[in-house]
Amino acid sequence: MKILLTGGAGYIGSHTAVELLAAGHDIVIGDNFSNSKKDVIDRIKQIAKRDFKLYEIDFADAKATDELFAKEDLDAVIHFAGYKAVGESCKMPIEYYRNNIDSTLNVLSSMRKYGVKNIVFSSSATVYGVPKQVPLKEDMPTSCTNPYGWTKYMNEQILRDTATAEPDFSVVLLRYFNPIGAHESGLIGENPNGVPNNLMPYIAKVATGELPKLNIFGNDYATKDGTGVRDYIHVVDLAKGHLKAIEYSCKNKGAEVFNLGTGVGYSVLDIVHAFEEANNVKVPYAIVDRRPGDVAECYSDASKAHKILGWTAEKNMVQMCRDSWNWQQNIKL
Ligand code: UD1
Repeated sequence: MKILLTGGAGYIGSHTAVELLAAGHDIVIGDNFSNSKKDVIDRIKQIAKRDFKLYEIDFADAKATDELFAKEDLDAVIHFAGYKAVGESCKMPIEYYRNNIDSTLNVLSSMRKYGVKNIVFSSSATVYGVPKQVPLKEDMPTSCTNPYGWTKYMNEQILRDTATAEPDFSVVLLRYFNPIGAHESGLIGENPNGVPNNLMPYIAKVATGELPKLNIFGNDYATKDGTGVRDYIHVVDLAKGHLKAIEYSCKNKGAEVFNLGTGVGYSVLDIVHAFEEANNVKVPYAIVDRRPGDVAECYSDASKAHKILGWTAEKNMVQMCRDSWNWQQNIKL
């Protein structure tokens, strides 16, 4: 199949590109490099030992999106492109809604115009809002706590409505839990601009000495050690979930949603200790106030993806910590 990856140079997109190429699919990457670096493209080619076409494109630009679809005879789209920083989205809601919603609408319009019927969308566990109960199942209530989350929520709705109106369409919504780790080659991984917001990239920078200590946001939650519990998943496992989702979308019409997580919750302190042990490094930390908008516990019931997609996360926490550290040490190379 020939699959377009919007935002394919990003963290999850680049790992998915590698898995799709390894499985024999052809890919086209479209990215405006607003939050990624161009050398990622060569690194994907180096790992996969295969070539593919790159478009430097902003999917919020309807004309450019149409032109890409006119040139490429695509079978499917995996739509990763979007802004993704929670804090920034609270300061720039208009930019977040405009970019994240426009790009989805443009991709869908071009798909309809050029007869491309299959789309897999990067959604997030953020659409569960403040969970009333864990583990989270796909049919539990959804809501959000920030504009970034609402763009995921609204995009899910847009895609569902499109699947209803266009009976030939197949829409797969993937709700990611907390992706961490990196490709085992150490060639691609997460490389946030500036000081990281997310836990694992922050820990990795503390371990190198670039940041003095980790601030743990609260130890008074109703969890086993008081720190927040999340479902961390290796990004390569997540990438493999997309491969299964694409295969599923080719055989099924309509819209379907799947959690992609491990189903296991780790606390912040669990992660600090796991990282120290796996990599034989020290991660100094201090307990500070809770971060506004954080929830105590968020982890998946991933049994639907297992049953229907035949997918299960395979990599354990030691591998996640080792691969994150290996990548962190390579980032400047
Ligand atoms: C956040 C977003 C989620 C997004 C995900 C991955 C929300 C509410 N959260 O998830 O949508 O998909 O990032 O990009 O929308 N922590 C610290 N110190 C730090 C950083 C984090 O103690 O310096 C703690 C947090 O309080 C939390 C855990 O580590 O308990 C994980 O935080 P983080 O990596 O930021 O992910 P989430 O907030 O779960």
